[in-house]
Amino acid sequence: MPYGSRLATMMARRLGRECVYMPSARLALYVALRRWCRPGARVLMSPVNDDVILFVVLAAGLRPVQAPVSVWDGNIDPAAVPESTWRNVDAVLTTNLYGMPDRVVELRRRCEELGIPLFEDAAHAIGTHVDGQPIGTFGKAAAFSLSKHVAATAGGFLAVEDARSRRELELLRDDLLVPRRLRGDLAVTLRPLARSGVRGLHLVRPVWRTMQRLGVLERDDFRMALHAPRLSGCAREAPSLAAYEPWIRVDLHGFRARHGALVRGQLAVRMAGLDDDLARRRAGVSLLSGTAWTSPALRDRATYDGPRPLFRVPLLVRDRDVLVERLVRHGVVSGYVYDPPLDDYAGAEFVEPSPDPSAARWFASHVLPADPLLARKITNALTRELAAPSRPSVPVPAPVPDTAPPAPLGQ
Ligand SMILES: Cc1ncc(COP(=O)(O)O)c(C=O)c1O
Repeated sequence: MPYGSRLATMMARRLGRECVYMPSARLALYVALRRWCRPGARVLMSPVNDDVILFVVLAAGLRPVQAPVSVWDGNIDPAAVPESTWRNVDAVLTTNLYGMPDRVVELRRRCEELGIPLFEDAAHAIGTHVDGQPIGTFGKAAAFSLSKHVAATAGGFLAVEDARSRRELELLRDDLLVPRRLRGDLAVTLRPLARSGVRGLHLVRPVWRTMQRLGVLERDDFRMALHAPRLSGCAREAPSLAAYEPWIRVDLHGFRARHGALVRGQLAVRMAGLDDDLARRRAGVSLLSGTAWTSPALRDRATYDGPRPLFRVPLLVRDRDVLVERLVRHGVVSGYVYDPPLDDYAGAEFVEPSPDPSAARWFASHVLPADPLLARKITNALTRELAAPSRPSVPVPAPVPDTAPPAPLGQ
């Protein structure tokens, strides 16, 4: 039996695609990019993305090409990508930021026309559908992350089209896994329990402040330190997972660990609770969608599909950075802020900048990703903090869902 096949089978049943178990979504993406992209290939992606993913693309020996995005959800805006860019990219990588779907129907059509692969980063998007079809089944391959769902702190999948690819990717994965350490496995198993203990005992604020003071957090800011000279040096070794590991492992040092039965057993139990988790997310999304802070993209899409089981709800607020700090006082730590956009963060040496960075800059600096599982707490805290909703000052088109007709903004 291939490593992790019980978990992979559980995921394959949900998705209707062949799945390979991975210890993380970042490793899944690396494996997919290595399999289908030759070194030097150019990958179109959104600059509103985790910096870890930028380093995965660089580690695979590829050139990240930053796309214009929708100002309402931070995902690639295919219509705003210049024709000259389309003609010069070799692959597309989606984000499905916070679980809001990319315009996958349009992206898939474009990729098919150009004969290039579409990769779906579905790390935030387990349970998101477009026209009844799950995100993660539109492209050549899709990466999922259990760390973002069911309160796990490890695990992921690579979903692919056929059994032959699956077998090939299992071998690629096995070459990259590092032997498990009992200490690591115990940490992965106990961390979710510790987290819920901290929440249950209302200790989020003191624990977070202590971690900040002790310097045990790997980011001082929303982005990790770039270490540009060292990063430049790594380019000579790319493609290489090992060379880029200091950047790729941030927030998840076991991203390539061959976890033992203890971790995989716990993940299987957690996965069995996935539908409950998604139902609770829908309820939280429904509550947050009714507030003035929610991105209109969410409200319009909810009109057609019902509330989505989002990983985070994109709220658009004034003074976002101040609010992030203030929310800690209310026991809410806001992660997953991807500001500044990757082209501003890394510069032209490491990425090809977007031809129109304005929407990415606006969205990245105004979005407050709200955990739908804490919807009531966050709504109360934002009300008490007199948080003001924000909208771009320059006129921008209303959000356009991928397939359904746009609803009127109503504001
Ligand atoms: C958009 C996105 N993709 C992929 C990942 C990687 O997921 P994992 O932590 O499972 O490697 C993350 C991590 O936060 C992410 O935010």
